[in-house]
Amino acid sequence: MTPSSVIALGLALWASVASAVPADPLVTAAPSLEDLEKRATSCTFSGSEGASSASKSKTSCSTIVLSDVAVPSGVTLDLTDLNEGTYVIFEGETTFGYEEWDGPLVSVSGTDITVTGASGAYLNGDGSRWWDGEGSDGGKTKPKFFYAHDLTSSLISGIYIQNSPVQVFSIDGATDLTLEDITIDNTDGDDEGAANTDGFDIGSSTYVTITGANVYNQDDCVAINSGENIYFSGGVCSGGHGLSIGSVGGRDDNTVKNVTFYDSEIKSSQNGVRIKTIYGDTGTVSEITYKEITLSEITDYGIVVEQNYDDTDESPTNGVTISDFVLDGVVGTVEDTGTNIYILCGSDSCTDWTWTDVDITGGKTSSDCENVPDDISC
Ligand SMILES: *[C@@H]1O[C@H](CO)[C@@H](O)[C@H](O)[C@H]1NC(C)=O
Repeated sequence: MTPSSVIALGLALWASVASAVPADPLVTAAPSLEDLEKRATSCTFSGSEGASSASKSKTSCSTIVLSDVAVPSGVTLDLTDLNEGTYVIFEGETTFGYEEWDGPLVSVSGTDITVTGASGAYLNGDGSRWWDGEGSDGGKTKPKFFYAHDLTSSLISGIYIQNSPVQVFSIDGATDLTLEDITIDNTDGDDEGAANTDGFDIGSSTYVTITGANVYNQDDCVAINSGENIYFSGGVCSGGHGLSIGSVGGRDDNTVKNVTFYDSEIKSSQNGVRIKTIYGDTGTVSEITYKEITLSEITDYGIVVEQNYDDTDESPTNGVTISDFVLDGVVGTVEDTGTNIYILCGSDSCTDWTWTDVDITGGKTSSDCENVPDDISC
């Protein structure tokens, strides 16, 4: 080609591109090179330096890949205050050094954050180093696992957690947070002294959705101390204490409102459906629905409401009200040593309960229920 034909071709291409692409109204000021690099930067961290490097560089990366990171003892994998829109991807095995401390092992906060696990990735708490049968009530101080605090419009998806020392997900101060396809596998702890390994502890949060969780643990699958507009569906809970509201009372925030547990299975657990409110305290529990919940091999109570937690020698108190408590299609079996339904309400604190298609069999019928609301049978 002659130089002039190159120019002509160039002009023709320029003309066709220019005509095909409408003027971009958003291009007012050119972003700085630094801004562009930040937006597009994917950073990969690995090994024993990975956690500290990730924490230092976290606001310079639009995507943070944590590949086989070995978090040192006594250190949080600190992913708090991420830039809006940051992606975090766990790859391979994430490990944590041993120390007796409160944790958390991992902490994430920010707005429009996405945390995912690559195929085969897992966070290995290696909890047996701490398990001593005492959970958070004594013995060794054990680190909590994963703080999902102050997350807004965010998603945590496909995370696999193995052998947590004690409580797993702490969800607090979250707004519009979805957790999907989370697996918590603490089955090793059944025989090795794991305790208080709650799957999801929720407080002071609104619009939290948990779908497709698989939780094998030794305490509540879900425990909601406070919060509103919480939805849990498609879950399997095994080995623990069931799907729980509470304990409610005695904290800064003692309101639980509009919670739905839907289409889930609770097996080999102490309890199925549970509401526990603290003796002598005040608060409000309202608009609670359990719909299409299947129970099997429940050892203690299929359905249990206790308004004297955690002082079972005392009579239930009225300070925390439980209203609009709906059960719809809660069915299944309790072991013959357990009790199908147990309701211990204060004298006028349980109102407007609607139970339909509740069929729990296999266990004992309690004769100790108190202040059972109208149309409900114990
Ligand atoms: C209750 O919570 C659900 C789930 O977050 C939400 O979709 C629904 O709008 C809430 N209902 C009310 C009355 O706020």
